[in-house]
Amino acid sequence: MPSPAHESGFNAITLCFSSWVSYKPRMFAFAVQRTNYSYDLIRPSMPVSLSVPSEKLVDEAMYFGTVSGRNEDKLVTSNAGLTNGESVPVPRLSSAIAAIEGVVDQVHSTGDHILIVTRIRSLLAARSTEPPLVSVAQRTPGFEVLRRSGQHRLAVPTGSHEFW
Ligand SMILES: Cc1cc2nc3c(=O)[nH]c(=O)nc-3n(C[C@H](O)[C@H](O)[C@H](O)COP(=O)(O)O)c2cc1C
Repeated sequence: MPSPAHESGFNAITLCFSSWVSYKPRMFAFAVQRTNYSYDLIRPSMPVSLSVPSEKLVDEAMYFGTVSGRNEDKLVTSNAGLTNGESVPVPRLSSAIAAIEGVVDQVHSTGDHILIVTRIRSLLAARSTEPPLVSVAQRTPGFEVLRRSGQHRLAVPTGSHEFW
């Protein structure tokens, strides 16, 4: 999301609280905790870009999810490869297997988070058969945990089954 105070112009945050919430119009929502720098950045009609990572981006996903934009310009310090957005002036991660571009439509208060509902402008998918990284609970069968930090575990599905 845009972050005017940063040299890169943007801040990146790792999210697991997210879901489609409407087909027509196409809408996607995610929740941001009030203590996060990203919470301070959310504005009405703001353009946002959500990149879906695979295993290749596991270090970036953990970095964006454990370091705050209050202390670092994460898109500079991580050296994450970026590609310009197609329908919004916000970059996506070049190695992402999919991306959702949209603009903030509604913001709802949900306890210690806010729920940000976006109106989708573009859905982009790479030609990839890699499974997405998922955030799992302790001892989730069928997943291999690749990185752990506190309550957060990033995992991929195990076994030979086709994910897609
Ligand atoms: C796997 C994973 C999932 C996360 N999911 C969320 C989430 O859904 N919402 C949220 O506010 N923070 C979530 N976090 C924590 C934030 O990414 C983390 O607090 C981050 O440092 C906030 O960055 P910011 O201060 O630059 O906004 C998650 C972290 C990880 C590692």
